[in-house]
Amino acid sequence: MKNILFIGCGHMGSALLSAWIKEKNNKITVVDPLKYKHIKKKYKIDAFESANLIQNVNIFDIVVLAVTPQLVDKVLEKYKLLRFKKTCVIVSIIAGKKINILKKAIPNVSQMIRVMPNMPALVGESVSFLVPSRNTSNKNKNNIYKLFSQVGIVFWLKKEEEIDIATAISGSGPGYIFYLINALEEAANELGLNKKINQRIILQTLIGSLKLIQHSKKSSKKLANEIAIKGGTTEAGIKVLKKNNINKILSQTLKSAYKKAIFLSKK
Ligand SMILES: NC(=O)c1ccc[n+]([C@@H]2O[C@H](COP(=O)([O-])OP(=O)(O)OC[C@H]3O[C@@H](n4cnc5c(N)ncnc54)[C@H](OP(=O)(O)O)[C@@H]3O)[C@@H](O)[C@H]2O)c1
Repeated sequence: MKNILFIGCGHMGSALLSAWIKEKNNKITVVDPLKYKHIKKKYKIDAFESANLIQNVNIFDIVVLAVTPQLVDKVLEKYKLLRFKKTCVIVSIIAGKKINILKKAIPNVSQMIRVMPNMPALVGESVSFLVPSRNTSNKNKNNIYKLFSQVGIVFWLKKEEEIDIATAISGSGPGYIFYLINALEEAANELGLNKKINQRIILQTLIGSLKLIQHSKKSSKKLANEIAIKGGTTEAGIKVLKKNNINKILSQTLKSAYKKAIFLSKK
């Protein structure tokens, strides 16, 4: 049996919770100031408004930090003096908060793993990057690897700094994709078909293209070239993407997110 405590259970925390709760060997407890009532009712688990309502933190094997970066320092003040068990591991999914900073905030727990998951965890299709503190036991590493494998694919990173790159690409990635889907929908609406149909055909075009590339041995570049035959409609469309330097825009997008992740990790 693994006893798991979630500190914060918003979008990302609840995506993980909803997957991990399906495993009978996981006993989950949540602290979240507003959502605790809803969580308690929905999942029939212990959920509290605040840390001081937990009777005994010594039972937890895994503590998941899933509050926002802006709040974490203030939130962790309440956990600073709590006596967690020696084998407990903290799993932080908080963007930009370094292991050494978190260790200072919760000095009673020495084992820690930083994770950068992404929102498709909700449907079991997440990408998660993991980086452990030096003294994290193999048992804890394996347990956390298994938990995140339940919501998608998992990669270990060698250096903690690399997590800022992962944050810019896959952590924030679904946000870019949804933004682009919305832009495509709006562009399609201008052409005349009705909104609902446009939503469906764009989604299906994306799903179809993703499945195709997943099953193909060809690169994305080759597949694009094969569809954009000379003198055709796709070529005409791609010319506009090239003229407006879509590659530069996307490069700047990732660099901007990366810079922000570095900035947050220096605070
Ligand atoms: N969203 C993503 O796609 C994503 C991807 C990778 C990593 N992350 C990381 O995951 C973390 C959470 O992101 P999110 O999108 O899930 O944010 P979120 O939806 O705002 O969730 C944060 C949760 O923390 C709760 N909270 C506030 N004060 C608390 C306290 N004192 N004790 C316990 N819980 C408290 C908030 O409650 P209230 O709403 O009631 O204030 C909220 O439910 C962030 O650090 C982010 O960097 C997010």
